[in-house]
Amino acid sequence: MISTDRVAAVELLRKGNLVALPTETVYGLAADALNSIAVARIFEAKERPRFDPLIVHLPNRGWLERIVDVPAGDRQLIGKLAEKFWPGPLTIVFPKCEIVPDIVTAGLDTVAVRISAHRAFAEILGELDQPLAAPSANRFGRISPTTAGHVLDELDGRIPLIVDAGPTEHGIESTIVAIRDGRIAVLRHGPITNEQLSQFAVTSVVATPRISSPGQLPSHYAPETALRLIDNAEAFFPRKNQRVGLLAWHARTGDLQLADRRTRDRRSLRFAAVRSLSQRQDLREAAANLFRLVRELDALDLDLIVAERVPSLGLGAAIMDRLERASKAA
Ligand code: TXA
Ligand code: MG
Repeated sequence: MISTDRVAAVELLRKGNLVALPTETVYGLAADALNSIAVARIFEAKERPRFDPLIVHLPNRGWLERIVDVPAGDRQLIGKLAEKFWPGPLTIVFPKCEIVPDIVTAGLDTVAVRISAHRAFAEILGELDQPLAAPSANRFGRISPTTAGHVLDELDGRIPLIVDAGPTEHGIESTIVAIRDGRIAVLRHGPITNEQLSQFAVTSVVATPRISSPGQLPSHYAPETALRLIDNAEAFFPRKNQRVGLLAWHARTGDLQLADRRTRDRRSLRFAAVRSLSQRQDLREAAANLFRLVRELDALDLDLIVAERVPSLGLGAAIMDRLERASKAA
């Protein structure tokens, strides 16, 4: 059921039930992180393999040291990152304390932690005063939901409540980092960019994180329709009778009358559907629209989706990461 009832959400969570909640990145599927049975329900509802660890969301920074061991040598750097980016879309991996159940971390001795800036999420978590485990609220391997309607498409009948607070702000999942010996290792690109992080320490991008987990698998974030990356739609011509959808970066909708240049016939449109990531070529807007537009194209029963590459700078790195994984699924 989709609702805005925060009191019901707190009640359900307290009793060990699942609730889908909005965060500033994507919608999450939340359960009491310290209740193994509640957390097991997340894996069931998502059909998620048990070797894929979850992110724990804290009510406030006071909870940090109850859940994790902050390494002494990195305390200062972690303090600075927390000061700057929490609450917000940054997840930090720490050595875990005993009280975090193994099912949350898939048996790892580390746990991924963040504090969400979303108002509804923070309010519910504050009222509950208990950490919440919350992966993205999609079935395993599929695109993360950025609206309550997407969550319903993914999990209808499997969870008692979806708290609706409109579309999420960032539209892509949080940046995940591990701090080691004064350096920042980026495990997943996200809204907090490498450029922002490198103001605090030397950063490195871990192409294949040591912890192999489905979120980092090449074929994650998959639409059902095959997706191919291209540089520019101008140079792309579908085969005859091939129904192709375009996820555009360069092309403006105005230019996308897209008559077939070979036939010069303005009635024969090159693309069966066109969605523009951002008419203004704004990467923030593109990230916020990305998953919704891929879902829209995926619902049109096309033969192929082609997506124009975006510049791999700043937020563009996180967008390209998602597009590359989607393109490897076919
Ligand atoms: O923005 C987000 O991070 C959203 C919202 C709901 O908070 N959550 C999210 O969770 O994207 P999920 O489960 O879809 O992705 C979490 C990823 C996993 O793919 C896993 O690779 C990584 O976090 N992860 C979790 N625990 C880890 C650990 N101890 N070490 C390394 N990576 C970890
Ligand atoms: Mg996910």
